[in-house]
Amino acid sequence: MPKIFFVKNSNVIEVAQDANLMEALTEAEIPVASSCGGNGVCTKCLVKVIEGRENLSPENDLEQDMRDIHGYERNQRMSCQAHVCGDIKIDADYW
Ligand code: FES
Repeated sequence: MPKIFFVKNSNVIEVAQDANLMEALTEAEIPVASSCGGNGVCTKCLVKVIEGRENLSPENDLEQDMRDIHGYERNQRMSCQAHVCGDIKIDADYW
């Protein structure tokens, strides 16, 4: 099962293969900013992927559109659209 590691603490979350990243974080009681409830339009759920970018699902059309519109950093992913396929290490400014 894939693991999620964090930059600012030693928590490790084990998640089901292909788990939705935002849902996995929320279920582990780690807060994720959102004003659209995971519908992919607010981009508040962005997280920085420090390690394991290749272990997240490829960006879907919606995420690519939002990246084109908002121009966020290459290592950021919309957690509500990304699925966890392997180990990753992530961070968010508000954690
Ligand atoms: S929760 Fe709004 S875009 Fe992800």
